[in-house]
Amino acid sequence: MFLTTVLGILAIYAVTAFWFHRRYPEVMWDWSSINSSDTQFPKDFVWGSATAAHQVEGNNDNSNWWRWEHEPNPKTGQSRILNGDKSGLAADHYNLYREDIARMRDELGIKSYRFSLAWSRIEPEPGRYDSEAIAHYHDVIDTLLEAGISPMITLHHFTHPIWFEDLGSFEKEENLEHFFRFSERMFSEYGSKVSQWCTHNEPGPFATMGWGLGAFPPGVKNIRRMANVIHNLMRSHLGVYQRLKAMPGGDQVQIGLVKNIFQFDPYRRWNLIHWALCRVLDHIYNESIIRFLREGVFKLRIPTQANINQAYPEAKGATDFIGLNYYSNLLITPFANWEPPFKPLHRPGQPLTDMPYATYPEGFYRALKRISTIGRPIIVTENGIADAKDDRREDYIRRYIYALSRAMRDGVDVRSYYYWSLMDNFEWAEGNDMRFGLYAIDYTTQERTLREGSKAYVEIVKRHAHS
Ligand code: GAL
Repeated sequence: MFLTTVLGILAIYAVTAFWFHRRYPEVMWDWSSINSSDTQFPKDFVWGSATAAHQVEGNNDNSNWWRWEHEPNPKTGQSRILNGDKSGLAADHYNLYREDIARMRDELGIKSYRFSLAWSRIEPEPGRYDSEAIAHYHDVIDTLLEAGISPMITLHHFTHPIWFEDLGSFEKEENLEHFFRFSERMFSEYGSKVSQWCTHNEPGPFATMGWGLGAFPPGVKNIRRMANVIHNLMRSHLGVYQRLKAMPGGDQVQIGLVKNIFQFDPYRRWNLIHWALCRVLDHIYNESIIRFLREGVFKLRIPTQANINQAYPEAKGATDFIGLNYYSNLLITPFANWEPPFKPLHRPGQPLTDMPYATYPEGFYRALKRISTIGRPIIVTENGIADAKDDRREDYIRRYIYALSRAMRDGVDVRSYYYWSLMDNFEWAEGNDMRFGLYAIDYTTQERTLREGSKAYVEIVKRHAHS
């Protein structure tokens, strides 16, 4: 009897684990038999590069992040940023944008540039708009257009004014009105010149890092509050989408959400505890957001913390494109370290990047397939590698772009690709050591140098521009 029960339990365990294993395969390709230059892209495929205001502009001293960088953690007395780094002057892109745009045109040959507006410069106090800051972005946009580079604007890329942070930012539904007003104002300024708009950058990381892990401002560790923030960000996306669409010219532009995908894969593929954790994390971080746009329902269930199930019929398909940011998968065990600095697990044959991510181009293919279930054209709004030694960048670029081409060959509708990032920048909690740039920045002279590894991207852009 005892033996039969044990055998029964083991059989159920094995069948369940096998089911998960088949249902969520961790795709791995044999790279020794792949020619990563074997890529095809349609003629009108757009190649670009991306940045975000706070990370490159410098001196965004009225933003929630600036304050966060300057206020030590009261519990430890230590800076919240690795090595005590600060964004400071960053890449001084606020002043050097003209030469940066000339490089995009002359050296890189890219046709689009994704950047974000620094809300904290533009609206330093609620309802007061700064005409100089507004004029600045007109200049950036005009310079891009003159260079034949189409601008793509992100309205919210992790940072906002301190006054908005102090109101409770996206934790309070009533605060969304402030973001709606800002977005409408920006659209009335730039809508006739800019045809692609991103509402929010990465609701998942913004909410989990800010309210789950406490590594981004406001530094909260509370799962219930985090769930509420994800919910509000989706409401916010929908609100901005609907409002801008209703404005003059709204139907002429494309407006979309930017979704980051990390797959949560079990470190031990036969361990049901690993699987359970992965499925919960995926439900919170990926599926809640994807489902909102795919089905028009916001569902987030976290035992004892959140039980949200609300229909938003008008949210179904409320994104003209879906932006995908993809870097890697995360291998999960119950013993994972949830405090920065994070230590990534990886499989043999997967080189690590300088960020706590392994190289996983097959994951890019998986993410493209998954995000395509929303049923909207895809724009890869970010993909790139932090590689200070520049000894992995070339392979990374070639393999990820191969994976992109393979997904498109298999029917996924992708319209453009933006390399993250145009230049080295302030990488949030990881500070200034993470060198994502196609261009290396010398922070003492602000000199820009195209990295050797980045030339693979230039070559790909050139090859496909003329094919
Ligand atoms: C994304 C984020 C970017 C950049 C990138 C590299 O999550 O949108 O701002 O930091 O990651 O880690």
